[in-house]
Amino acid sequence: MSFLKNQWYCAGFGHDLAERPLAVRILDEPIVLYRLPDGRPAALHDRCPHRFAPLSRGKVCGESLQCGYHGLEFGADGSCTSNPWGDHAIPKAARVRSYPLVERDMFLWIWMGDPALAREEEALDLGTFFNRPQHPVVYDSYKLEANYEVVVDNLLDLSHGIYLHGGTLTNGKEGAGKMRVEMKQEGDTVIALHRRDNELPAPFLSKAWGGRTERVNHRSDMHWHPAGNLVHVVGITEIGQPQGRDDGVYLHVAHILTPISERQTHYHWIAARNFALDDAEAGKALHAAIHRAFTQEDEPMIAAVQERMGTTDLMALRPVLLPGDAAALRARRITDQLRKRELDAAPVAPVTFRAAVTPT
Ligand code: FES
Ligand SMILES: [Fe+2]
Repeated sequence: MSFLKNQWYCAGFGHDLAERPLAVRILDEPIVLYRLPDGRPAALHDRCPHRFAPLSRGKVCGESLQCGYHGLEFGADGSCTSNPWGDHAIPKAARVRSYPLVERDMFLWIWMGDPALAREEEALDLGTFFNRPQHPVVYDSYKLEANYEVVVDNLLDLSHGIYLHGGTLTNGKEGAGKMRVEMKQEGDTVIALHRRDNELPAPFLSKAWGGRTERVNHRSDMHWHPAGNLVHVVGITEIGQPQGRDDGVYLHVAHILTPISERQTHYHWIAARNFALDDAEAGKALHAAIHRAFTQEDEPMIAAVQERMGTTDLMALRPVLLPGDAAALRARRITDQLRKRELDAAPVAPVTFRAAVTPT
């Protein structure tokens, strides 16, 4: 199964890229990230064209990245800017691929496809969620042992929260039969709305509710954008009150998935809250609750599911379908359509025919 190339993918948190070059693997390609003297980030293929050393083992020299093996230097556009050997002429083949890269809302976004199709304004805009000083954030990232589409399956079907996160993120089976799930599609975006009415506040939100114990309405709305970017609003409101994006006590969470390879996914998340605003301890507790759920509940289950599936082609396994599957199936269908569109649009390699030669 090929990856979607013409998409902006998260290459990491911007604050993780400092003065040293950073090696990342995205869509099974080795990439090196580094910062130019003015702070702008740059991305190059992480393989020197001389003897194929990882450029990430080198160092930043002004605007260029110097290979740590024999010293060739490469600029942000991938051209060789310095050859310390011989007459210092730049060999014609001394060039590496460079990738469009933008920094926005704490994230670095890289374009893995045709650079001519890259539109910076199409990189995921999380500003309305995460650039509000009144909404403190917590965040983290993990490496998951599964294809990113298996992780999308997990995030678009939050019915798993009742069982996998029962007692941590939800009150468990109390909500099983009562969860209402609605799926919508807007363009290439899939929206999965999950509602649980008249329940005790979820454990990780009950403190935010001021310790109140009366029943509330829960909402958990997930917006998926290709290939693996999900924006999530999870909150509680008093019974009978509106359940809009900014109502009640809520978290806005971005789940950002980047394929490392067919079987590994880099998962970055960031959560902004509208409660306990000046309470650093509450922020730590929130991080701990989300971290625990992801690392001890989701991550092992997702890896085990991938191991049992053994393939990324879900439908070939003829899965049993439940109501909560609709959104994830729609996302897979859109991904398949985009994949087909990309393959159809890709230039066809010229076929060369060689005349049969009869030995004389
Ligand atoms: S491998 Fe990079 S200069 Fe030799
Ligand atoms: Fe989960």
